[in-house]
Amino acid sequence: MTQFSEQFRGMNLTSMHSTNPEPFAKTEMESIIGNSFAEILEDVSLGFAADEGSVELRQAIAENLYQNTQPCDVIAHAGAQEALYCVFNALLEKNDDVLVVTPAFEPLIRIPQNIGCNVRTIELQSKHQWKLDLQKVEEEFNSGCKVFIINFPHNPTGAHLSDKEFEEIINLCRKYDVWLLSDEVFRGLEHDESLKLPAVADVYEKGISIGVISKAFAIPGVRIGWLVCKDAELRSKVLNVKEYLSVCNSQIDEKLATAILKIPNQILQRNLQIICKNKELIRSEDKLFGFQIKVEIPQSGCSLFAELINADAEKFCKIVAKKYGYLIYPSSLFSTNINAVRIGFGSKKFSEFIKKGRAFL
Ligand SMILES: Cc1ncc(COP(=O)(O)O)c(C=O)c1O
Repeated sequence: MTQFSEQFRGMNLTSMHSTNPEPFAKTEMESIIGNSFAEILEDVSLGFAADEGSVELRQAIAENLYQNTQPCDVIAHAGAQEALYCVFNALLEKNDDVLVVTPAFEPLIRIPQNIGCNVRTIELQSKHQWKLDLQKVEEEFNSGCKVFIINFPHNPTGAHLSDKEFEEIINLCRKYDVWLLSDEVFRGLEHDESLKLPAVADVYEKGISIGVISKAFAIPGVRIGWLVCKDAELRSKVLNVKEYLSVCNSQIDEKLATAILKIPNQILQRNLQIICKNKELIRSEDKLFGFQIKVEIPQSGCSLFAELINADAEKFCKIVAKKYGYLIYPSSLFSTNINAVRIGFGSKKFSEFIKKGRAFL
């Protein structure tokens, strides 16, 4: 990600690659919570927080976002990135077999690779509407797999699993005794409420659910993520790794996140309103800045993966940045050979981007 973005440093580009909905302004958030940040933070301590996160925060997460989770099952982190880093390092050793769904958010592959694991991938394909091939998953499990890494709602395609596919994955993991790491940072952004799935940590004893308030909740400025897992031994190992990273969160962030996560539905509703309005502008066959693209309309989240028909994805991104001032990401950042670009459609500037893109025929 960094190397690709480096070439555009100092160019003042409008970000159109983001996977989070339009971030909240402070006043907008205060009016939804019904309290000012000053009031929420009135009695905040400026000492160290508890390593695993405050009881109040973990209670807000367990009670409002999960069905079958206790506060003790939750560890709060400085973002989902830290939760991923800690759990991979707690769980994995050199030569472990890991299976990851691609295209993938880079750390889901890179962290296990850096640990020295044998990382195999299973690719979603647009010709199959980005559906996961469960027969292939079972074949891979048969060859040995310690952890299966999934991310639905999916970044970058916006694909999602059906109830039946979800159940089948849990059954396969149980049958082959595989840990299931589910990056659920976009959970809550299903465009149709009926698509919402249980969190894996609620239904599977070797399930690990990852969440964060930067993505589905659109609050990247408050740096709180978490993992949920029923396995006390694994949680203890995760905390040992965390001792070498943030150690604990900012108490200010924890207080704000606690207040915010007591009212998740109001926040998600605001985000879905922006997303669903922008989604109406997406066409499956289209031209952007004169280049032909093909898109599977996303079912969830606010990123889409537009395949380029007759141009190279990296070159297209460079043209869009240098000539038109927008930053989008090429597929090479998602460990896939698919020739595509990720475009975020959660931003209030998305309609302007589409309008400009269509003006170049
Ligand atoms: C699938 C996925 N997981 C985790 C993260 C990390 O979230 P954060 O940077 O807020 O920790 C991201 C960020 O883009 C993501 O797309």
